[in-house]
Amino acid sequence: MKRRQFIHNTARGLAVGMVAPYILTSCGNSSDGKVNVGFLGVGGRGQALLKHFMLLDDVQVLGIYDPFEDRRNDRAVWVSEVHEKRNANKDIKFKYEKCMAHDSYAALLDDKRIDAVVIATPDHWHVPLSYAAVDAGKDVYVEKPLGLTIEQGQILRKKVHEKKAILQYGTQQRSNRNFWLAAELTVREKIGKLERIDAWCPGQNREYTGSTEPIPVPGGFDYDVWLGPAPVTPYTKDRCTSEGSWYVYDNAIGFIAGWGAHPLDIAQWGNQSDDSGPVKYRGTGSLFPPGGLFDTINDWDIHCEYANGVKMHFFSHQHIPEYVGDYRPDVKLHGTTFWGSNGWVSVDRAGIHASDPELLKFTIEPGREKCYVSTHHQGNFIECVKSRKQPICTIDAAVRSDTISHLGNILIRSGASELRWDPEKEEIIDPTPAMKEMLHRPQRKPYDII
Ligand SMILES: NC(=O)c1ccc[n+]([C@@H]2O[C@H](COP(=O)([O-])OP(=O)(O)OC[C@H]3O[C@@H](n4cnc5c(N)ncnc54)[C@H](O)[C@@H]3O)[C@@H](O)[C@H]2O)c1
Repeated sequence: MKRRQFIHNTARGLAVGMVAPYILTSCGNSSDGKVNVGFLGVGGRGQALLKHFMLLDDVQVLGIYDPFEDRRNDRAVWVSEVHEKRNANKDIKFKYEKCMAHDSYAALLDDKRIDAVVIATPDHWHVPLSYAAVDAGKDVYVEKPLGLTIEQGQILRKKVHEKKAILQYGTQQRSNRNFWLAAELTVREKIGKLERIDAWCPGQNREYTGSTEPIPVPGGFDYDVWLGPAPVTPYTKDRCTSEGSWYVYDNAIGFIAGWGAHPLDIAQWGNQSDDSGPVKYRGTGSLFPPGGLFDTINDWDIHCEYANGVKMHFFSHQHIPEYVGDYRPDVKLHGTTFWGSNGWVSVDRAGIHASDPELLKFTIEPGREKCYVSTHHQGNFIECVKSRKQPICTIDAAVRSDTISHLGNILIRSGASELRWDPEKEEIIDPTPAMKEMLHRPQRKPYDII
């Protein structure tokens, strides 16, 4: 998006930010209570997050890096303009500095003034940059999905614990009341004892599978950094777009993790299994048709089972008519349903439904909730950076939900009929050679941060 359009599109949000900012009360890292933030990756999601964070008056964005020079420059100019306007407002309690466009992620991470980093890069960079940021003493807000392998998530988790860093995972559905309500009703057994979960999200079934024709890399774009730890491949029209980064296996495992992260995160929450996961996996799936650039799984139908006997059915949108079409109204392309011994509750971003609609009138005195309450995902992160309390979507929860996507991916790509997982040791039980091969990805130098 060009700068002018970006400014136009954010004008409304900015006005809200100036008039009624989301005010946080606890004391901050900087001497005056602000949290200094840096941004790595300001494409589609990164600029949306930039807007969300800029609505928080105790956030000062001091640096931005993106391999697209125009993106980092435009966003840094925009932030600096917002800061300047705020400084002109005599009712605002903070003073804001200029935002710098850095020419490398290392330069941004070297800036000692920066307390926290927001990472919205393609998936293959999530863990390496989070690791480097935590190692540099920063807290991290990182987009989902987590790693390109289960191992990557585990490596990051160890580093986060070692450095006592705050890490918020970008599964923002937990900070929405309807998702909280579905989890709270389930945990309180208002639908009876939990027996089964349906979790579904978009796969991909378009005919277009991305151009493989090499073309020159555009000026002002550092393709080598974009590729980073991933293998070197020719630049093509679709490779460095959002879709290219979601559906190319060198850079992602596909929507089984990229979108699956959201309904799985809610499933894990309602099942109270943020420190565990299913022990058995069976299922089928398919990849994009060969010949194009996109080569991740685009369709899956996976049956899992937790050690507590709860069954989970995780599938892509192609299977909605078969599985969700008949029990709830207005089915969206994504959602999570909890089935208990007495009924069900089903939630997506458009709403919440239950077998007994009376259940949805549930209220509770603040402070007595069983499930963590956050009403603003980015605000919750900033609050935790200040208070050092754990955020709503921790690294521990992230590793476990991401593992479910990976095990589904491994099951399908290895062609096995079943996969068994030990959630204590966090290992596949008796992996086949094909499964073992998928547990590790080499990291290209000099980007081999992990
Ligand atoms: N939470 C959500 O609801 C949500 C929604 C959309 C996307 N996402 C996630 O956000 C991430 C980005 O997706 P997108 O659609 O914005 O893709 P995008 O391609 O539009 O943006 C990614 C940006 O990261 C930049 N980048 C690449 N390597 C970098 C590096 N080393 N340092 C800094 N920047 C780098 C790219 O140049 C690009 O501008 C994905 O992981 C995606 O899964 C999350």
